[in-house]
Amino acid sequence: MRRDKLVVKVLSSVLYEVLNHKVSVDVAFKRACKGKCADSLEEREKLYNMARELVSDYLKVLCVNPKLRSYGKIVRFWLSKQWSDANLPPWCRLSYQRWFYEKLASLVGNEVEELLSEMNRRRWWLRINTLKAPEEKVLRQLEEEGVEYEVDKHFPYMVFVKHSPKPVRLLKPVKEFTAIPQDKASAAVVNALNPEPGDVILDMAAAPGMKTSLIMMLAENRARVVAVDISYRRLLMCANLLTKLGVDLSRVHLVAADSRDVFLRSAFNKVLLDAPCSNSGAVSKDPGVKIHLTPSKVKHYSEIQKDLIGRAVKQASSLVVYSTCSIMPEEGEEVIATVCDAVKLVRKYSWSSPGYRVVDFHDKVMRFFPHRHLTEAFFLAVMEVTG
Ligand SMILES: C[S@@+](CC[C@H](N)C(=O)[O-])C[C@H]1O[C@@H](n2cnc3c(N)ncnc32)[C@H](O)[C@@H]1O
Repeated sequence: MRRDKLVVKVLSSVLYEVLNHKVSVDVAFKRACKGKCADSLEEREKLYNMARELVSDYLKVLCVNPKLRSYGKIVRFWLSKQWSDANLPPWCRLSYQRWFYEKLASLVGNEVEELLSEMNRRRWWLRINTLKAPEEKVLRQLEEEGVEYEVDKHFPYMVFVKHSPKPVRLLKPVKEFTAIPQDKASAAVVNALNPEPGDVILDMAAAPGMKTSLIMMLAENRARVVAVDISYRRLLMCANLLTKLGVDLSRVHLVAADSRDVFLRSAFNKVLLDAPCSNSGAVSKDPGVKIHLTPSKVKHYSEIQKDLIGRAVKQASSLVVYSTCSIMPEEGEEVIATVCDAVKLVRKYSWSSPGYRVVDFHDKVMRFFPHRHLTEAFFLAVMEVTG
């Protein structure tokens, strides 16, 4: 098949998968490429980047030409580059839904365009996995591969990738699980739990285990974790990942259950609730999120989160950490409002942004933003449990 035909075919299938099956761009690309894409890594990578860009631009393209119907026509129009976004309203130019743009504008004011444009960019952080190798060795390996990086000033085991000559997933330390792609905001969540040897920690929404594994790394594999998740399939992925990352599985008890009503015999001093959410803060990871996000989806998750947080504060004897990769106040400040009278909120990181001014305790909770912190958009609340 000629290259231009193949490109249209693969990109059309990616759009089909994202729009009809609501899968992430990564899953859509894998399905679309199967049996079609060239073996050449470089060629495949080029196609992958095009797929990400196309999905990210999808709402913009429809603003420019709302009459486009078939996937093939959308792809060909997008590829033609014979169109301009100069006169579009800002939500179209940045390729977001109007309600989402207006809602964020009401929350962050004139920073909204900078924020949304940074959310369209993919950034890479790596966590050095000290359970498997010393930091210096991994940093040396990254240098040998030509990676330009900066060690983070807040978390010395986190590295910001400024330039990588090859896709991050193909770097040797990543393939050997001594460096793990993980956002700095995600590391900030686990660090706020201050995991220590001897802790007994409940991780209420644990799969696929990125945060559980960091808990164990910071506790030098000497904490005990009960890792609950409602999805058995995702828990299997979790067991697999924890093994590869060098976590002592004899100290992690995996439980397939609904954390809203699971009966647990153990007493926990710390609880992590990295709640299921709309993913609205993770646009940079999966631009398809921009297309599928709706106010009712946000409301749906907000209700689950409120049930879960009520349970979380009852389970912990000293500390509860709540996080979501959502940029919506319904999944952050408004969830914490349901328990704030029963806990003491602690603003753990002075370098984070405060919460939105939709609650009176906004300066006691934390937000991370791509344009300010080079992270995904995350919400974080640290709660000391007093009685
Ligand atoms: C944001 S993900 C967790 C990511 C994980 N903490 C990590 O860092 O790898 C949310 C998880 O919550 C799980 N979940 C959804 N509803 C749940 C519930 N009621 N009880 C327990 N887990 C739930 C989902 O299956 C999903 O794996």
